[in-house]
Amino acid sequence: MASSNMFRRVLNLSLIYSWLLFAMNCRGSVGAAGFTNETDRQALLAFKDLIQEDPFATLSSWNDSLHFCEWKGVTCGRQHQRVTALRLVSQNLVGSVSPQIGRLAFLRKIHLHNNSFHGTIPPDIGHLFPLGLTLPNLKYLYLGGNKFSGPFPPSMANTSGLLLLSMPRNNFTGPIPSNLGNLRDLEFLRLNGNQFGSSKLNDLSFIGSLTNCSNLRKLKLSENQFGGVLPGSIANLSSKLETLWLGSNKISGSIPQEIGNLNNLYVLAIDHNMISGSIPESIGKLSKLQKLQIVINNISGKIPPSIGNITGLSLVDAADNMLEGTIPAELGNCTKLQALDLGGNRLTGVIPEQIIGISSLTLRLYLDLNEFTGSLPSQVGNLKNLGVFALGDCQVLEYLDLHGNLLDGAIPSSLDQLKGIQQLDLSQNNLSGQIPEFLGKLPLMRLNLSHNMFEGEVPKVGMFNNISAFSVVGKNMKICGGIQPLHLPACPIKFSKKNKRLFPDKTILLIILPIVLLLACLFLIFYRLKKSQQRTSSASLLENQYPKITYAELLHATNEFSPSNLIGEGRYGYVFKGSLNSGEHIVAVKVLKLQEHGANKSFMAECDVLRILRHRNLVKIITACSSLDFQGKDFKAFVFEFMPNGSLDSWLHPTQAREQGSNLTLVQRLSIAIDVASALDYIHHHCEMTICHYDLKPSNILLDDDLCAHVGDFGLARFLSANTNLSNNAHFKYGMGEEVSTEADMYSYGIMLLEMFTGTRPTDSTFIDNFSLHNYVKFALPDRVMEIVDSTIVLEEVEGLNRNRGGEGEFAKLKSCLQIILRLGVICSAELPHERMDSKNVVKELHRITKAYNE
Ligand SMILES: *[C@@H]1O[C@H](CO)[C@@H](O)[C@H](O)[C@H]1NC(C)=O
Ligand SMILES: *[C@@H]1O[C@H](CO)[C@@H](O)[C@H](O)[C@H]1NC(C)=O
Ligand SMILES: *[C@@H]1O[C@H](CO)[C@@H](O)[C@H](O)[C@H]1NC(C)=O
Ligand SMILES: *[C@@H]1O[C@H](CO)[C@@H](O)[C@H](O)[C@H]1NC(C)=O
Ligand SMILES: *[C@@H]1O[C@H](CO)[C@@H](O)[C@H](O)[C@H]1NC(C)=O
Ligand SMILES: *[C@@H]1O[C@H](CO)[C@@H](O)[C@H](O)[C@H]1NC(C)=O
Ligand SMILES: *[C@@H]1O[C@H](CO)[C@@H](O)[C@H](O)[C@H]1NC(C)=O
Ligand SMILES: *[C@@H]1O[C@H](CO)[C@@H](O)[C@H](O)[C@H]1NC(C)=O
Ligand SMILES: *[C@@H]1O[C@H](CO)[C@@H](O)[C@H](O)[C@H]1NC(C)=O
Ligand SMILES: *[C@@H]1O[C@H](CO)[C@@H](O)[C@H](O)[C@H]1NC(C)=O
Ligand SMILES: *[C@@H]1O[C@H](CO)[C@@H](O)[C@H](O)[C@H]1NC(C)=O
Ligand SMILES: *[C@@H]1O[C@H](CO)[C@@H](O)[C@H](O)[C@H]1NC(C)=O
Repeated sequence: MASSNMFRRVLNLSLIYSWLLFAMNCRGSVGAAGFTNETDRQALLAFKDLIQEDPFATLSSWNDSLHFCEWKGVTCGRQHQRVTALRLVSQNLVGSVSPQIGRLAFLRKIHLHNNSFHGTIPPDIGHLFPLGLTLPNLKYLYLGGNKFSGPFPPSMANTSGLLLLSMPRNNFTGPIPSNLGNLRDLEFLRLNGNQFGSSKLNDLSFIGSLTNCSNLRKLKLSENQFGGVLPGSIANLSSKLETLWLGSNKISGSIPQEIGNLNNLYVLAIDHNMISGSIPESIGKLSKLQKLQIVINNISGKIPPSIGNITGLSLVDAADNMLEGTIPAELGNCTKLQALDLGGNRLTGVIPEQIIGISSLTLRLYLDLNEFTGSLPSQVGNLKNLGVFALGDCQVLEYLDLHGNLLDGAIPSSLDQLKGIQQLDLSQNNLSGQIPEFLGKLPLMRLNLSHNMFEGEVPKVGMFNNISAFSVVGKNMKICGGIQPLHLPACPIKFSKKNKRLFPDKTILLIILPIVLLLACLFLIFYRLKKSQQRTSSASLLENQYPKITYAELLHATNEFSPSNLIGEGRYGYVFKGSLNSGEHIVAVKVLKLQEHGANKSFMAECDVLRILRHRNLVKIITACSSLDFQGKDFKAFVFEFMPNGSLDSWLHPTQAREQGSNLTLVQRLSIAIDVASALDYIHHHCEMTICHYDLKPSNILLDDDLCAHVGDFGLARFLSANTNLSNNAHFKYGMGEEVSTEADMYSYGIMLLEMFTGTRPTDSTFIDNFSLHNYVKFALPDRVMEIVDSTIVLEEVEGLNRNRGGEGEFAKLKSCLQIILRLGVICSAELPHERMDSKNVVKELHRITKAYNE
């Protein structure tokens, strides 16, 4: 027994593929025809047999009392009732994958990621092949996050219809074969987080063959053992390539000049390797690039000025290389740059004011450990974030690191504008002058001024009271005073005490008095001028900007966030009803639960999205507020227009509180469905960037006085084409089964449509395993439609029919209208993203239905 187990472990997954492919080769002669639905059932049972541990009892439904199409994780085709997808994700399953899976002749998708499958298969595999067995339809293969081992299956290249191959975070080893170019349709290849490669020469030669995959869009090879040089053929990959991840390998060589060919690239990540040479000038041709990550390599030479051509760039992480020369002023043309990290290079010269002037730089700016000279640019104050702010300045510059340079001069007073700064490191420079008191009042958690040439009194206010929060050691020779634990010499009297000579002598008085008077006059003139200007400019300001609002005002508006004002709660926030301007303006205030992990990110995401959205079917933002509460803790909130009719959810599933007879009619439901689809059409197709809401559900649809629907809660929204925080996005794109996509929204929309017209929640307890709202409706269509629709619609409409129109014909019209709507919901929630309808067409279709019904 034990020895047979050992033997099983020796074999590995590649055998499955050899076997699958062997089967495919036989397809021509035998084909799938020999397989029946019974073959599918047997294959699934064989798969279940090899599962050793099933802690969530996921496979308990796999028994004879249910049809196999209803087993959990199994999806069948609608017509032929054969298995098309096997989806067992994150179920902690332990076991090996039965080769019988290859008998599922109609299988298109295998999702087994995030389990503990390992790469062993039974030794008697040969006997299991009656086999004409085939997997001709396989398009998606997800095996990530398991414990598979062994080499890359050499036969993989024979699954020629494959679109997506995802096997990250396993223990696969060895080389990648050079025949993957056969996978002509391949769009996604993710092999990251394995042990592929030999750390030696030619590990990446397979890239040459991938150049034949003319639809390749995403290639992720990071965190492996790939060695050798970065092949020039990388520039010959499909021009459709959008993301290229090669980080954390052992790749040497240089970035090919031709990299500019990849003109659809928006992520280029080759960090943590041994790449040398310079950044090619042609990088400027990557006009869609958003994220350039080359940190920790051996890249030398100058930063090419052409980088300024990449105007959508949002992140440049080039720290710890050998870059030299000055920072090109052209980088200042990248006005969407949010994070710039050039620390640990050999950059020289003054820091161009154009860089410091980029107002989008809100996440980080690291210029430490270089050889910059000159004084600290006063524009640094432009990187401001007011504690209370307009939406345009949503984000906060939190980290500014300039340590280890040769900066001189004094700390500019404009630094006091950095109202959101949390960490400031100016150590190891040649800064001089006094340490300004305002630093103590910034919300700094860490301040390092050590090893400079400061002089005079160390302030005692604010954070200068907390010895562990700041550092002023080293050659700051002439400093004095400060709090006691610093053990600095006391300051000479002129620094610590007010000048005792209250009355200066007459001569000085004679000089000073006229000056003071003159200044007072000038001030008055200036003040009046300013006033009159304000009157003209404030109107336009109001139009372009969001009003500013303080914590105190919101506290007051919501009755101190009283529970009686609480009208909703989500994962990341509470929503309070509030009244501004002494009750003149009723608003909804969403206060972020900042202690919740991810709440800050969600706030940023929502800020980013709301800033650019304007549509009648979106909840209208009035302003946002990021400041400190009275206890000095972070406080972040949005102020929205109040929606008197609450959420769609409360209408679909009324509690006792809502009056009887306040059900939504068919026409009202249709109109709400159109509103929501219009909102999706807008965010998907008509704004600056494609946005995916990603959390569409009836509780996020709010109804105004006229029952016009407004989509709210963009806390999980993601930019698709252009993007703010790609690393975060990457988590969503790669961490989960389905891509964040407009199709994902359409799925939620479809389910919502089904919920709206059946009155049944998708989370209803009757839906278990594979029996979902989608299937429930699908199987009832078309004949049993009246049995499944929300009975209140039928009652209302039939009553109406009796009163006004009557007749069989009208009833048939109602039925056919409901059939079309529900079919629309079923199509939108189709399992395959590309089968779902687009928001634009949904709007059209719903208008058509409404028109037909009202005729
Ligand atoms: C299998 O297919 C046959 C013929 O199409 C059908 O009669 C039978 O009900 C199906 N069995 C299952 C379990 O779906
Ligand atoms: C078969 O599956 C159904 C549905 O999950 C379950 O209720 C039933 O207990 C299972 N029967 C056995 C014998 O496990
Ligand atoms: C993996 O599965 C476990 C168990 O279901 C779950 O807790 C965890 O969140 C999953 N991880 C990912 C990245 O999906
Ligand atoms: C792939 O298919 C070709 C013919 O189509 C065959 O010659 C080759 O042996 C197959 N490779 C594997 C590893 O099955
Ligand atoms: C991965 O595979 C290597 C050898 O192939 C083995 O030494 C190592 O223990 C494996 N790691 C895990 C986590 O299975
Ligand atoms: C790409 O495809 C062409 C035509 O099928 C073939 O001749 C060539 O060898 C392939 N190139 C690579 C690198 O696989
Ligand atoms: C890239 O493609 C061009 C044109 O097809 C070809 O001339 C060049 O040799 C290729 N480069 C590499 C490194 O494969
Ligand atoms: C950058 O843009 C300028 C002006 O549009 C153009 O002349 C230059 O060729 C571009 N450089 C690169 C490398 O694309
Ligand atoms: C880094 O690049 C320089 C040339 O640019 C080269 O001399 C040096 O050997 C490289 N260092 C490493 C560790 O690759
Ligand atoms: C880019 O920046 C340079 C230097 O700051 C400036 O002269 C040039 O006009 C800018 N180009 C564009 C297209 O904004
Ligand atoms: C530092 O600044 C002082 C004047 O403030 C100057 O004399 C000295 O040369 C500077 N040191 C360096 C290393 O630049
Ligand atoms: C301050 O900076 C100096 C020099 O960069 C460093 O040695 C020291 O550890 C830093 N102190 C703190 C508290 O970070």
